[in-house]
Amino acid sequence: MKPVKTRLLKVLFLVGIALVSSLFISGCGQKEAKKQFVIGMSQCNLGEPWRVQMNADIKAAAAKHPEIKIIWKDAQNKTTVQQDQVKELVDLGVDLIIISPKEARPLTKPVADAIDAGIPVIVLDRKVEGDKYTCFIGGDNFKIGEEAGKFMVKLLGGKGNVVELKGLMTSTPAVERHEGFLKGIKGSQIKIIFSADCHWLEPDAQREMASALARFPEPDDIDAVYAHNDPSAHGAYIAAKNEGKGREKRIRFIGIDALPHEGIRYVKEGLLTATFQYPTGGAEAIETALKILHGQKVPKNIILGTRVFTRENVDKGGQPL
Ligand code: FRU
Repeated sequence: MKPVKTRLLKVLFLVGIALVSSLFISGCGQKEAKKQFVIGMSQCNLGEPWRVQMNADIKAAAAKHPEIKIIWKDAQNKTTVQQDQVKELVDLGVDLIIISPKEARPLTKPVADAIDAGIPVIVLDRKVEGDKYTCFIGGDNFKIGEEAGKFMVKLLGGKGNVVELKGLMTSTPAVERHEGFLKGIKGSQIKIIFSADCHWLEPDAQREMASALARFPEPDDIDAVYAHNDPSAHGAYIAAKNEGKGREKRIRFIGIDALPHEGIRYVKEGLLTATFQYPTGGAEAIETALKILHGQKVPKNIILGTRVFTRENVDKGGQPL
């Protein structure tokens, strides 16, 4: 009887060990299987090449991380649509939101509400008001404006008449590019003789430049155009060309963005005198999102660098600033 009992106990013991270790192994296995994350990306519009590039940069960076799934939202340049889309992403319970807001003030509350709902938010390129967001990533628009101003002073020998074609002034890059430019031309005899809000859009810039040309009709009236983005600089060039007096050859056009197939190409073709790079931050957004999702601390603000492209340096990849 005794040996049978001992054998039984031994068997029970081994079965127990097997059970415990299999539970342990499967537990480890679960830990090793990567958690899936859903990121909601709210893009203010996809009508402009720079934003298409931003989404492409995000997509390329995310493709290296199969654990990430992205829900794409395009607000088609409508603020209320973007507000609703952020709310919708919160209701869906995504793990993190990336937003490139159309305007600062109206998107501040939806972002704050997401934070209150426990969803981290990365604000990309254009800012919201206050500090209720997880991380801001973007170029230094004040610096870009200031560098453009200094460039203008050199280009015009310290004196001249400039048309400023602004971006949407309820979005922060336009305000910062304007204020930076004023600092850059400070102390010079450069005058802004005409300025208009062109909402970042080429057709608006073309129309405003046509008005500027009509108001200042003499050959030497306008020396240069400072446009807050390359589409606007291009619109201004086309307006000058369409005027039919050849002024597009005399006026210098400066833009911002420096996409290879846009601003950089215009510089190579001689349409623009210079363009300043405005990085999309798409890759950095994914890198930062992963850190946040894995519980790591990230800086509150991540500011990206710029470079200037002119005819002289364009083939060498521009000049970092
Ligand atoms: C695209 C764009 C860019 C500009 C940026 C500023 O929508 O207008 O041309 O640099 O937005 O946020």
